Amino acid sequence: MALIIDGKIIAEQIRFEIKNKTEKLLAERGIKPGLAVLLIGENPASQVYVRAKEKACVEAGFYSLVIRMPEAVSENEVLSLIKSWNTDNNIHGILVQLPLPKHIDEMKALLSISPQKDVDGFHPENIGRLVVGLPGFVPCTPAGIMELFKRTNILLSGKHVVVVGRSNIVGKPMLNLLYQKSKHANAIVTICHTGTKNIRMFTKEADVLIAAIGVAHRIGADDVKEGVVVIDVGMNKIVDSSTKSGTRLVGDVDFNEVFPKASAITPVPKGVGPMTIAMLLENTYRSATGEIFVK
Ligand code: GUN
Repeated sequence: MALIIDGKIIAEQIRFEIKNKTEKLLAERGIKPGLAVLLIGENPASQVYVRAKEKACVEAGFYSLVIRMPEAVSENEVLSLIKSWNTDNNIHGILVQLPLPKHIDEMKALLSISPQKDVDGFHPENIGRLVVGLPGFVPCTPAGIMELFKRTNILLSGKHVVVVGRSNIVGKPMLNLLYQKSKHANAIVTICHTGTKNIRMFTKEADVLIAAIGVAHRIGADDVKEGVVVIDVGMNKIVDSSTKSGTRLVGDVDFNEVFPKASAITPVPKGVGPMTIAMLLENTYRSATGEIFVK
């Protein structure tokens, strides 16, 4: 029987730990971690994510600031708001919810965030720090996946991990975490992407498979080997007339098909998703304490 990795329970545990650390930080040093979030436009998924981040911050005892701007906002307005947050001592973390409207240059916005407050870890300085093994902010979803391995005692050293997807948010930082020479990494990594003609040829070789494809049920039983550990990053809405909303959230992995062959697997929902928010809180907390860039 495969272990079902319960990301919801592990994330709750982490959030409980952060809430306690935060109380102590306020009592002993008078510091309240603060996260500022910028949400532009009406993207329904982004609205849901931002609401969840706001709620998690409040529950952890953080200062939470969410600014919502209309779709038509100018790039200059966005950049000057971020600039003001860079110098605001009550704000330790800045997050610009992606995707941005087309007329706003995403990289320009990310580059305008102070790397010291870049709790999403998307600033090229933090990506560079990750690559060379310097301390810095690590993107939340890959960091959350590494935490799942750690907290379920899944050792990666010498294992072949196959990552499917090369996004800046998941695939690329995931790859760079996995091969690091450290106790909880040290894996051999293959990355597949839209240029990979025969994905199955690689996924079937995986000791650990990380699916960040964005296609519902893309990975089936024939794509994996017996005993594989499966991490499903997918969040795909599919039509399901049996639910109240008429839709259902599913992963990139066909859970029912792959479960019998796996040794461990994350479900969707309640797998990787809750870990992303837990790591955002952790990054913001560590930014507030000032420990993040010190080894
Ligand atoms: N859009 C989808 N995932 C994320 C994330 O982790 N951070 C931000 N800022 N935007 C996103």
